[in-house]
Amino acid sequence: MGKGYGFDTRAIHAGQQPDARTGAVVPPIFQTSTFAQDAVGSPRQGYEYSRSGNPTRDALQECLAALEGGARALAFASGLAAEDTLVRAVCAPGDHVVIPDDAYGGTYRLFAKVAQRWGLAWTAAPIADPEAVAAAMTPRTRLVWAETPTNPLLGVADIAALAEVAHAGHALLVVDNTFASPYLQQPLALGADVVVHSTTKYLGGHSDVVGGALVVRDPGLGDELAFHQNAMGAVCGPFDAWLTLRGIRTLGVRMERHCDNAERIVEYLCGHPAVAGVLYPGLTEHPGHKVAAAQMRRFGGMVSFRAAGGEAAAVEICNRARLFLLAESLGGVESLIEHPARMTHASAAGSPLEVPGDLVRLSVGIETVEDLIADLDQALR
Ligand SMILES: Cc1ncc(COP(=O)(O)O)c(C=O)c1O
Repeated sequence: MGKGYGFDTRAIHAGQQPDARTGAVVPPIFQTSTFAQDAVGSPRQGYEYSRSGNPTRDALQECLAALEGGARALAFASGLAAEDTLVRAVCAPGDHVVIPDDAYGGTYRLFAKVAQRWGLAWTAAPIADPEAVAAAMTPRTRLVWAETPTNPLLGVADIAALAEVAHAGHALLVVDNTFASPYLQQPLALGADVVVHSTTKYLGGHSDVVGGALVVRDPGLGDELAFHQNAMGAVCGPFDAWLTLRGIRTLGVRMERHCDNAERIVEYLCGHPAVAGVLYPGLTEHPGHKVAAAQMRRFGGMVSFRAAGGEAAAVEICNRARLFLLAESLGGVESLIEHPARMTHASAAGSPLEVPGDLVRLSVGIETVEDLIADLDQALR
């Protein structure tokens, strides 16, 4: 389904034509490992084995490509499985990548604790500063990796500027678009080469499935990644693909509500005596505000803040919240609160990606916003 259709139309229809045999309006879950073949060498419609291809996964992949404006999308068992497949498909021992100095702790761990052992060097750089990224590149840099907004500090990177820097050094720009979702930001149109998603988050949207995706502009790179998807095998299962696709159909309306609620909560937190600072790209004083306003539709549902009372106070706030559930992950309809230094980003302790102890991260859900504010009010008291 082409770009002529609006975002929500693509979310509901791309890859999701009524089932040819029965007319079922929802794509069936093809919960099968293998497919009967008509003759040796004649698989029906190309399907032979579900690691190599499955119609439910294809439906999700087609929809993701349409939403990000990519030539091809590939769905994986998790966001990290997608990242690992990309890194091993594109990089070889002796190569180098530039990673953000603020990023999901698991992404840092993949480079620092896994890929490095296989000979892939990395440098952490502040990705809000394209000159610093250029300075961190070497002749062996294959990937410049960006998150925007970043997890958990809500930093903003200028995607078009980073694409220029990466391409000048013959590297690919990878943008982890998990926090924004394709509804708020489409990095490929701004010059990125690969979009990464933890579809576990806003795309799935209901905290009931773990998954990941890669979306690319170049069909040749798409073929290369598809080869590795099959060869490495970290595929998204049919039921997980179906759940993710079910979530995607309401992505647009959910994101609008996430943004509405986050804006109200930011307003509440700013100036609260127990809050030392609020991190949200929608605030005019945020250093990345202008870039975010130019490259995003709105500013998203993720909000972080620093507790005025330091780390002990941050932990206490997390423990006192009730409606905001104390949990890792983000992007679901329900609101979550967490302490990044001790939870999602514990693996970055002692590294250039270590996060401050007084930081609290909120994934603002789509509940009645007055109830969410009342909960924060009692937690901050
Ligand atoms: C920004 C970001 N990228 C990637 C991942 C990894 O995704 P997954 O947990 O689906 O493997 C996460 C998970 O929290 C994330 O927040």
